[in-house]
Amino acid sequence: MKDSAPGTVYLSDYAPFGWLIESVHLEFDLDPDATRVKSRIVFSPNLNSPEQEFFLHGENLKLISARIDGTAISPRITREGLTCPVPDGEFLFEAEVEINPAANTALEGLYLSNGMFCTQCEAEGFRKITFYPDRPDVMAVFTVAINGSAGVLLSNGNPGPRGAGHALWHDPWPKPSYLFALVAGDLVAHSDRFTTASGRRVDLNIWVRPGGDEDKCAFAMGALKRAMQWDEQVYGREYDLDVFNIVAVDDFNMGAMENKGLNVFNSAAVLASPETSTDANFERIEAIIAHEYFHNWTGNRITCRDWFQLCLKEGLTVFRDAQFTANMRSAPVKRIRDVIDLRARQFPEDNGPLAHPVRPDHFQKINNFYTATVYEKGAEVIGMLKRLVGDKAYAEALELYFARFDGQAITIEDWLSVFEDVTRRELCQFLRWYTQAGTPRVSVKEEYDSGTYTLTFTQSTPPSAASPVQRPQIISIAVGLLGANGDEVVPTQMLELTKDSQSFTFEGLSGRPVPSILRDFSAPVILEHEISDAERAFLLAHDTDPFNRWEAGQALARETLCYMATSDARPNPDYLEGLRTVLRDDSLDPAYRALMLGLPGESEIALALSAHGIIPDPEAIHAARERLLDALAEALAGDLPALLDANAVRERYSPDAAQSGRRALFTAALALWSRRDGGARAASEYAAADNMTLQLGALGALLAVGRGEAETAAFYEQWRHERLVIDKWFAIQISHAAPDAAVAKTRALVQHPDFNWKNPNRFRAVLGALAGNHGGFHSRDGRGYALFADWLLTLDPVNPQTAARMCTAFQSWRHYDGGRQMLIGAQLDRIATAGGRSKDMAEMIARIRAARPQ
Ligand code: PHE
Ligand code: ZN
Repeated sequence: MKDSAPGTVYLSDYAPFGWLIESVHLEFDLDPDATRVKSRIVFSPNLNSPEQEFFLHGENLKLISARIDGTAISPRITREGLTCPVPDGEFLFEAEVEINPAANTALEGLYLSNGMFCTQCEAEGFRKITFYPDRPDVMAVFTVAINGSAGVLLSNGNPGPRGAGHALWHDPWPKPSYLFALVAGDLVAHSDRFTTASGRRVDLNIWVRPGGDEDKCAFAMGALKRAMQWDEQVYGREYDLDVFNIVAVDDFNMGAMENKGLNVFNSAAVLASPETSTDANFERIEAIIAHEYFHNWTGNRITCRDWFQLCLKEGLTVFRDAQFTANMRSAPVKRIRDVIDLRARQFPEDNGPLAHPVRPDHFQKINNFYTATVYEKGAEVIGMLKRLVGDKAYAEALELYFARFDGQAITIEDWLSVFEDVTRRELCQFLRWYTQAGTPRVSVKEEYDSGTYTLTFTQSTPPSAASPVQRPQIISIAVGLLGANGDEVVPTQMLELTKDSQSFTFEGLSGRPVPSILRDFSAPVILEHEISDAERAFLLAHDTDPFNRWEAGQALARETLCYMATSDARPNPDYLEGLRTVLRDDSLDPAYRALMLGLPGESEIALALSAHGIIPDPEAIHAARERLLDALAEALAGDLPALLDANAVRERYSPDAAQSGRRALFTAALALWSRRDGGARAASEYAAADNMTLQLGALGALLAVGRGEAETAAFYEQWRHERLVIDKWFAIQISHAAPDAAVAKTRALVQHPDFNWKNPNRFRAVLGALAGNHGGFHSRDGRGYALFADWLLTLDPVNPQTAARMCTAFQSWRHYDGGRQMLIGAQLDRIATAGGRSKDMAEMIARIRAARPQ
């Protein structure tokens, strides 16, 4: 289906570029507002491409001169690039352009952050640096010369000769332009080295600005070495350059970027110390370091043919980093966290107006497709593929993948071809996971008759604008059966659902079993299984699958919250009782018990109600959740003091899984206990805290019971010079504000002198926290929506990418009542009709506003 929006790109229109690039030489004369970039590019005709006009991308470039084979030319320049006649065979194209990094607030291309030069080229930023075929299927070997004032001058690949104010870099591995990077400025390195399996020595550096960050690099360095070793051991992948550089930058739109040999990281995704970072920060840093490192093979050596194939590198690399975290820490805990995240971010996307397939087939701005669907559902799909073919075939297929496609830019069909070749099994039905949008719903019916037990599954995926016709998918469903005493009578089996409806039979049972379905969350679907509270409580007590044991508790919590939000129902006693038993079980990992204590979020309850045809009321949902928390605190009151004592960490701080698990359980218990003692214990824990996890945990517990004013003020004074901690300070005040106070709190904080809204981390800390405060954002009078829209409009001209991404706060608007829909609709209209919208924001708002399919 082609829509009529101008500037839409379609997968079906793909054609290779008409030329190959033999080599690229770039020379940068750095200057904050007038940087000169000279390029020398050798092109030769690509015999596999249709005939076409010679076109190079280029945006906001001031052309100084251009030559072909040494002769000056006057190319035709448009807003999008450059065209000119070219010779038939090989030729040398040279250009000199001028750009203005200081004026670049969008943080794409070459920009300045605290006086440091920095680039961000994925997806289409290289065209803001020089004229070039800025598309991932054009791979080339780059040589880069940098001239600048003193300081460190970095680019991709291996370093060549350098002197004061001059450096040369050569990257021997052909790469697409989106992996180009340059960094220059006053930087210091935290250095180490790694010897690869084949004995090659690699210098490792984490570069930061001098003055305080140097001692926050050690953890990331350790994580990098663990990731390098893991990729050798598990995937047989070695690093392939003499140096691996990482740079921390404060102004960055995303988490981090895998530029070849020169990763650029958002400071928040690399810098860590026990005093300033939480356990969750440490875990996230380890995962992102690994993620970017793993891209060296899945993304850089083998890259995407076009941006529709983004999940080729992202889904696979998220899957790999999840395997890494599961190995380094606890596999069940990682799995549960990933599912929480999937439900919070991907399910709403897949079930709203922004739904798109894991491999989209059209877009206006590719920046808008760095989504939870491409990344997280993309990773789930790979997990499913691995379950379907088995671990051995998965390993063989990956070996074949690296051997067959190294150095190429490829498609999802290519990726699936190695699985087809290894298993001799056709995967065209599996391809639907990449081409259909929407979360499949799988409903289950049970039948038992004298020893024979039958499970019948029915699948359906609601159609959407992105996927009007839905066909059945291959769904891997892990099932185990439990006997009445909790014994596992049928251990986990992988069932393959391929039809709309299918039955599976188990014979020879001695009684009616309790089924444990979708173990380990074996497919990214919504399971509709109507079982009694008693059976859920039984699974909560006995399921041998840790994911499903947690899920049984979540299902009980979700259901009781749905009832409590729509009636004056009391909390389900089976749930409270079951939870108490789990919490008392000291054989269970504290991190796992902490997850058990986590209730589904308010927006998850809103979507669950909506799925049952009930219009969610944000105030009622918030009140219900508060009542359930109070009831939990009451039911567990007798256990909490002992739980606090048992999980207080007295050893020297370490961010490892065991210690952070205890702190997680400790802070979860502290939050509940604050509902009993009015925050007295939390206040003393706050005063005694010597690490950020406890400090922030105690502050959150205080704010949640309406206290913590003095602590909030003291926190600011203590940390005012630590920008990453101040981000937390902004966020926690808004996320823990009561619904009727969140908007006023946000209004006050945007007036704070430290609210530097052009910094994406700070903007997200404040406005992201507002969007995440479900009750506050959806405040009945619409003030939350209006404030949020004001700031989207403010940010858009300065930083379209971040502004557009944050529009997702409105994606679930159709689930709410008519009044709220009108209020949100008015804000969407206001944004849509305001002049000068970026293309990024215009696309997002148009998609969110689009009428619902019938
Ligand atoms: N490719 C980066 C990653 O997934 C994300 C990113 C995309 C960063 C676009 C910057 C810009 O690791
Ligand atoms: Zn990535």
